[in-house]
Amino acid sequence: MSDQDRLIEHEYDGIQEFDNPMPRWWVTTFWGTIIFSGLYLLNVGPIGAGAGRIAQYEADMAAWREAHPTDQGTVDSEALLALAGDHEVLEEGKEIFARNCAACHGPDGGGVIGPNLTDNAWIHGGTIAEIHAVVSEGVLAKGMPAWGRQLTPAQVNAAVAYVWSLQGTTPANPKAAEGAVVAQ
Ligand code: HEC
Repeated sequence: MSDQDRLIEHEYDGIQEFDNPMPRWWVTTFWGTIIFSGLYLLNVGPIGAGAGRIAQYEADMAAWREAHPTDQGTVDSEALLALAGDHEVLEEGKEIFARNCAACHGPDGGGVIGPNLTDNAWIHGGTIAEIHAVVSEGVLAKGMPAWGRQLTPAQVNAAVAYVWSLQGTTPANPKAAEGAVVAQ
């Protein structure tokens, strides 16, 4: 009991209460949140001078994109062909293929649900740029996913390089050729 304790006159069911001030930490926090909310409002748009959290988010994203450029826009056939001759890229492509493509195209590219990738017949064209386009954008109506949305550009390139390297190989259970024969 301190000097502050001042009994309030009312009494309910034999219970009485003191009229004590709130503890200092509580009052400080209380005023602190009020002051903070004022400063906060000043800083956020559209009420205050700040840009607002959506603009802040966009700015952060733009900065991130700037720091992480992608090479997706430029699909250069020569660069892809160079990748197809790069042993390390082919190794990576092989892993990507085993993980993402083998279920539909067979572990050796011989074809299951998806077409045979080892022959020289192509539904969507047999140049490396056309293969890149199919892998990147998919053929959604026919069940070929758009890998450009799920893999990084470098991974798509590696998968395409690997598909390119499969041509002329002999799969265990080749699916009959589909599409038009393309002379390489
Ligand atoms: C869910 C099944 C499925 C998966 C997984 C899949 N594909 Fe396909 N893919 C297909 C089907 C089905 C087609 C045939 C599309 C058509 O008939 O137009 C196809 C077509 C293709 C073609 C074009 C073939 C041609 O004859 O023009 C290429 C290249 C290809 N896929 C590569 C890949 C690669 C690389 C992956 C893995 C990153 C992959 N696919 C994963 C089902 C799949």
